[in-house]
Amino acid sequence: MRKILEDYLNWSSQLKRALTAEVLNPASLDVGSLSGIAFVGMGGSGIIGDIVAKYLEREVATPVVVVKSFALPKYVDSKWLVVAVSYSGNTLETLTVFSEAARRRVKLAAVSSGGRLMELAEKLGVSRIYVESGYLPRVALPSMLAKTVVLLNKLTNLKIDIERGVEILKDVEGPEAARELANFLSGGLPVFVVTENMYPLGIRAKNEMNENAKIACKVEVLPEWGHNDVVGWESTPRDLVKIVVLRDGFTELADFAAEYLRKLNYSLKVLEVGRVGYFETVLYGSWVIGLASVLLASIRGVNSESTESIEHYKQFIHSYLKFYI
Ligand code: PA5
Repeated sequence: MRKILEDYLNWSSQLKRALTAEVLNPASLDVGSLSGIAFVGMGGSGIIGDIVAKYLEREVATPVVVVKSFALPKYVDSKWLVVAVSYSGNTLETLTVFSEAARRRVKLAAVSSGGRLMELAEKLGVSRIYVESGYLPRVALPSMLAKTVVLLNKLTNLKIDIERGVEILKDVEGPEAARELANFLSGGLPVFVVTENMYPLGIRAKNEMNENAKIACKVEVLPEWGHNDVVGWESTPRDLVKIVVLRDGFTELADFAAEYLRKLNYSLKVLEVGRVGYFETVLYGSWVIGLASVLLASIRGVNSESTESIEHYKQFIHSYLKFYI
């Protein structure tokens, strides 16, 4: 647990190091002339696509999609840009989609620490950027996010700035907030309630609870929450769950949900994650929740670093897919 905890605590320097990096084979693309951008990746790498896509959705008129699958959507053709993110570079779903994109002559870019993805990217002569190795994929979020941003800024006319994150991740109150969150979550199934603009943070929170704390976890997203989840809470056993409402700039909806759930006597905590901007909020929230998930693992007596079930799944998928590719 010491290594993973230290790695999370050092996120600020991880981010800073990653902001200065070289893009190999940079292309020159105008986002406005692309038919779309697809981010491809799974788990701790796939979340980078969620985070960047949510930002771009509000910044550019070009469609942006996230692919977490073996299948590249039919509409992705040579006028699209596909950005594959895989920390290991060996994730089969990502490699399958990347290869299919190459077959369709899509514009390609890769973000990884190595593996087959970088071998393929080099062979194809496409734009790529290396991520610092030596981390668990989920712990390398600052590095993968920064490298993806550096890559996009270099390849396209986008100017995404995440440098303020370096200071945000030094916040001395972060680790204390994480300790309080871990203590609160102990003894119940975590449920994170977020507003739609913070959907990537909700998914990230769930993934961190799953992989580090080894516990099932639910994410609920407003305003869709108001059309189904809200009913489910009418008669769910009160002692089963620990609900965390993540609060950022868009407070009215989050406050409504918190009040509703509190009145129903659920064990509930409101966590303030809002910082100066979108990326800063996602980075800060991911940091506090990541730390909390490691501390929760220790409270629960489980190993936060190993993910044997993922390895088991990956072995299955290798033998399953060889019949199809
Ligand atoms: O965080 C993890 O360890 C996993 O979610 C991995 O990110 C996931 O299995 C995909 O692997 P990779 O990030 O190497 O593509």
